[in-house]
Amino acid sequence: MLKQVTKQLALQGVRTFSVGQQNNYKVTVCGAAGGIGQPLSLLLKQNPLVTDLALYDIVHTPGVAADLSHIDTKSKTAGFIGADQLGDSLKGSDVVVIPAGVPRKPGMTRDDLFNDISNSIAKNCPKALVAIITNPVNTCVPIAAEILKKAGVYDPKRLFGVSTLDVVRARAFIGHALGVDPQTVQIPVIGGHSGVTILPVLSQSQPLFKGNQDTIEKLTVRIQEAGTEVVKAKAGAGSATLSMAYAGARFAGSLLKGLNGEKNVIECSYVQSTVTEATFFSTPLVLGKNGVQENLGLPKLNDYEKKLLEAAIPELKKNIQKGIDFANA
Ligand code: NAD
Ligand code: LMR
Repeated sequence: MLKQVTKQLALQGVRTFSVGQQNNYKVTVCGAAGGIGQPLSLLLKQNPLVTDLALYDIVHTPGVAADLSHIDTKSKTAGFIGADQLGDSLKGSDVVVIPAGVPRKPGMTRDDLFNDISNSIAKNCPKALVAIITNPVNTCVPIAAEILKKAGVYDPKRLFGVSTLDVVRARAFIGHALGVDPQTVQIPVIGGHSGVTILPVLSQSQPLFKGNQDTIEKLTVRIQEAGTEVVKAKAGAGSATLSMAYAGARFAGSLLKGLNGEKNVIECSYVQSTVTEATFFSTPLVLGKNGVQENLGLPKLNDYEKKLLEAAIPELKKNIQKGIDFANA
């Protein structure tokens, strides 16, 4: 009987879930009403591993949640508005994604932007995997780390700066340049998430990006400056939102796959690191049930990429120190 009902539901396009799979994760989006937050929440609403989608912002979340709740996927969607409801939005969350903040305007650097909700995470979901999208990522992640440390709940395996958009862009640009499907391109993008700290390791791309040194340098700079390309094109209306939502949903999806026991889930992300002199650094990571399962370290670099790394490290160290000083001020 049960089998028949399940078959009937499947024919109607209704998904059912086998007993034994966990498939019941709570994800909180902080900044859910924003340019990134809304499309990110839409994409997360479609992730079958999510059963509870909590949307937190200081504005508009009741409307965003009501709208998303009419989508016929299994997750329950709830809106939380204002600081009084922050704790409830985070209570028991498995994954917290943070795109709360202010987008960059032309002429601003990412250092003008900052937002933090780490204290509430420490109280309400200290074991959650936390993915910070808010800029400046290079500085916000060390700030969050310091605050979580003070609250006695910091676990470096569970705190991530989202640099996935750099990988997504590199895949798009390489795929289009080579005339191959960008989804088939593999490329590590390491370092941090701003300007010279973004280090696309083109020598390791698969398929190989072939080109003379001039072409390679142009593509490297394009990937490093791709955020500025969007800021300029939007001409005062903000920075990347849709591509970031896509990248954020992919990264959160990978965190959930890792939590759910899937093997060989690999993403580049900005985490506490001993791979270089910079104490936070993005390299390819294997994701698992407790967040970072293994840091795969630096990919092989050619001489040009070694020079890029030399340029990135002092900038990253400065960004990191700024975060530590800010949090301890
Ligand atoms: P946005 O202004 O459209 O949205 C930000 C949202 O955050 C708004 O809805 C706002 O109400 C909310 N917010 C502000 N303060 C808050 C608080 N204290 N608590 C909860 N919510 C709060 O901005 P956006 O375009 O979505 O960008 C958000 C952030 O993401 C910016 O810092 C931007 O620079 C960054 N960003 C990062 C990447 C990346 O690759 N990591 C890419 C693009 C943008
Ligand atoms: C991006 O890379 O698009 C974001 O970090 C937004 C920005 O300000 O560049």
